Formats: sequence, C-alpha cells, structure tokens
Amino acid sequence: MTIDTLAEFISRLDDAGELVRVRRPVSLDLELCEIADRVMKQPGGGKALVFEQPILMDGSRSAFPVAINLFGSMRRMSMSLGVESLDEVGARITELLEMKVPKGIIGKLSLLPKLLELGKFPPRVRHGAPASQEIVWRGDDVNLDKLPLIKCWPEDGGAYITFPMVITRDPKRGIRNVGMYRIMQTGKTTLAMHWQRHKVGAAHWREMAERGERMPVCIALGADPPSMYSASAPLPPTVDEFLFAGFLRRAPVSLTKAVTCDLEVPAEADFVIEGYIDPAEPLVTEGPFGDHTGFYSLADLYPQVHVTAITMRRSPIFPATIVGRPPMEDFYLGHATERIFLPLLKLTIPEIVDYHMPAEGIFHNLVFVSIKKEYPGQAYKVMNALWGQGLMSLAKVLIVVDHWVNVRDPQEAWWVALNNIDPQRDARFTMGPMDVLDHSSRAFTYGSKLGLDATKKLPEEGFTREWPGVIEMDDATKRRVDAIWPSLGLEAKPGVTKP
Ligand SMILES: Cc1cc2nc3c(=O)[nH]c(=O)nc-3n(C[C@H](O)[C@H](O)[C@H](O)COP(=O)(O)O)c2cc1C
Repeated sequence: MTIDTLAEFISRLDDAGELVRVRRPVSLDLELCEIADRVMKQPGGGKALVFEQPILMDGSRSAFPVAINLFGSMRRMSMSLGVESLDEVGARITELLEMKVPKGIIGKLSLLPKLLELGKFPPRVRHGAPASQEIVWRGDDVNLDKLPLIKCWPEDGGAYITFPMVITRDPKRGIRNVGMYRIMQTGKTTLAMHWQRHKVGAAHWREMAERGERMPVCIALGADPPSMYSASAPLPPTVDEFLFAGFLRRAPVSLTKAVTCDLEVPAEADFVIEGYIDPAEPLVTEGPFGDHTGFYSLADLYPQVHVTAITMRRSPIFPATIVGRPPMEDFYLGHATERIFLPLLKLTIPEIVDYHMPAEGIFHNLVFVSIKKEYPGQAYKVMNALWGQGLMSLAKVLIVVDHWVNVRDPQEAWWVALNNIDPQRDARFTMGPMDVLDHSSRAFTYGSKLGLDATKKLPEEGFTREWPGVIEMDDATKRRVDAIWPSLGLEAKPGVTKP
C-alpha cells in the first residue's frame, strides 16, 4: 500500500517494531544529536526515533516533535520505498530499460500496461486546500526560532535543517529540481543554503544570478518517503525528483502551489518554508558543520534565503537526520542510491557487474567495481567512464576487480584487490573535480584521483607469468563434509565466493 505522509510512515515503523518514542524532554542543542548518534551506531543502524518533547534553543518546549533515523537501516530503507529488498527497484528499472517492442499485435498490446504505468508517475498539481497549508505563517508570524532546528556538534556554526527537500526551478528549461542540502539558520527569517557547487540547486542559482533575477526557493520537510529519499538521489538535472518519486511509489506525488512563491510543493508535506534568494545580496557565512566525512567542514560563503512564509499541517512532525563519523543514517540513503542506480550505470558501462561504496569511504572516497573483463585495458576504460559520470566524477579512489568478486563484501574485495596488484604497474593517478567536503585535496574541489586495476592481468598488458587460481575445496570433498557436518557439533561457516 502506498504511503502518502510522514505520519503514515512513522506509524508503519511503529507497527513493525522499528520505532522508539522518546517521551522525556531532550534539548535540540547537542543532546538530541548525541542520543541519535549512539542509536545509529548500534548494530544494523538502531531504531527510528521520535522525540516528542524537543527543547528549543531558548529553553522552551517545541510545539513539534522531531523524527530521526527513519531511513537508517536496510529494513526501514526498503520499507520507505515499499520493497522487500532495494535490488527490486533496480530490477524494475532494468525491466524498463530493456523494454523491447515484441512482434505481432498481441505482443505489442502486452506492452500497454507497462506504458500506462509510466504515464501514472508525473506529479499532479492539486487544487483546493492542501494538508501542507492547513496552517500558514506569514509576515511577522514567520519565526524560524519556533521550529525544532538542531545544533548537532559543538563547533557547528548554528542550528540546522538537515533533512529537507529543496525545491528550485531551472530558469531556462523550466525543469524542477529537488535536492537535499543542509541549511543553517542565520536569523528569525533567514537561512544559509549549503548547496555545493556540483549540485543542481547551485546551478539554478548561478543561472538566476547571471540573469540578475530573484530566485524562488521552497524547503519542504516530511512527505511520502520516496519523495524524501529522492531529494538525495543524484538524478540528472533534466529529471524532476518528484517524477522519480512517483515511479518509486507507483503513484503520482501530489503537489500544490506555494503561497508566496512561484513554485509547486508537496501537498502532503509536514512543513514548507517558502522564500527567495536575491543574487544582488552578498553571500553569508555557513558552517562550520560536523559533516558525514566524520570531520568538520569549514565555514564558507553561501547564498542567503529570505523566508516569506512557513506553512504546515495541523499536527506536523519535523524530520531530521544527523551526519558525523560513519556509519550514520545517510549510509542507508546512499546505499539505496547505489542499488537503484546500478542498472543506469550498466546502460553506458555494460561490463560493470556490481559496485559498492563502503560506509567508511563515505561515498566519494572509495568505490569498488567488479567487471566482466574481456580485453586488455578494460579496467582503465571503466575507471575513465565512471570518472565521467555525474557525481561519480567526484570519486577519489576507484578499485576495479573481476566479475566473480563480491564487492558488496569489502573484506573480500580488499583481499582480492591487494593480492592482485603490482602497485607501480596497476595504480593510475588522474586529476579532476573533488567533493566540496574533501579537506585534503590540493585545492578546493580540485585534486588527484587514484584508480587501481585489481583485475587478472592479460598477456597484452605485459603480464607473462602464470596467474594462480583461488584456493577452493573440490566438490566431492565438500559433499562428504556436508553429510557429516551436523554430527560434528560445529557452527555453520560462510563459504568463499567462487572465481
Ligand atoms: C543527509 C544528507 C545531507 C546532505 N547534505 C548536502 C549538503 O549540505 N549539500 C550538498 O550539496 N549536498 C548534500 N547532500 C547530497 C545531495 O543531497 C545529493 O548529492 C543529491 O544528489 C543532490 O541533489 P541534486 O543532484 O538534485 O543537486 C546530502 C545528502 C544527504 C543524504
């Protein structure tokens, strides 16, 4: 059954035993973060939490509860997208991409349900009074101090919105973008928008600044879970995240016109903060911020949002997350992206079998890729192709292994990779854009990358020695031991992947 609201998702999590309600008062000033961090570090990501009595920065009680770690486990991430396993979404995408036109009229007719399903996905603008505008604060009523923004870590520059859907529009093509960018409170009605230079929201802002036009921005909080996730997905700038969310949830996302901006916002959102950025205004200081690298990202200059209205449901829930030393909730959001985007990567790099970004690598620092290698130099071809794809261009270390290696088991991937390399021969450095959060690159967002070819080497690649096989027991012995195993009184042991 499709989930339309954050409250419905929370109630499903509650029914599934995936949620803990924290009833005692907890300060939004560091305390909530410390509790959430300890929970997120529990095996498998801990439970989702709803803080029913958050205490605001001025010491008063927040009128709104805060929900956190809602997506922070494999199970909850799958539940949010209505699947048993995240690979199901990838399989749906593969099916769509492989849609061949069958022969004969009956065959062609069999395509219709699929095409009709596609037609269901675009968001629909609803007229009438939407839930997200049941309460409207405008003019002097606008006061961000009344929202439960979190100060996460001691050296953070302020209190933050951490789980937003930031809605902007490409002024040239009119295409909407929805991005998840942290936002720091700078005043009662002002915020600093931390969209990094490689992100679509930042590109829209540069366009608007070139035109010298005021940029409308809406920040939606809480909605159907696929919409909330989609804000974090690295979709191409030409794809509206609400369309993608519609595909994920197999039903359109309902939108409504914002009250003070020329943008559409989710009709089922818990909160919508409406406002604008004036490109003529100087940038403001944002940060420092305890980031998902596990280090603070330094303060820098970002555009200021002026809030013109805050709208909300009658009983809204304020969604939040925290980032910090991995693993955190964002690992599961990123993991969903990894699984969902695999078929799309395979579309242009068909030799890719699988890839994985381990939690310690915080997405851009380390990517393992397995390929079906069929000709010399193919590992380098794959590295170059990945470094030319969207946000994969920010990957710092890429390690390519053969198809049989289970890259989703980093222990196995490291074991094979380290065995298979002659470091001087198999490592390649190149240059490129670096993630804004990389604090070690020689320059801000510019630096070197390392590619490791850990595949089996071919004679054409200059390898003339014999290449050994992986140790494995023969099948007959395994069968004999299988038969006597239960009588040995030993625990089951996982096997090693076959080459
Ligand atoms: C919890 C969380 C926080 C994030 N914070 C930021 C941020 O502050 N700035 C940013 O540019 N990207 C941030 N990201 C990554 C973007 O959401 C991600 O790159 C997304 O693809 C951006 O959307 P866009 O491609 O439409 O710009 C964050 C992701 C997550 C999961």
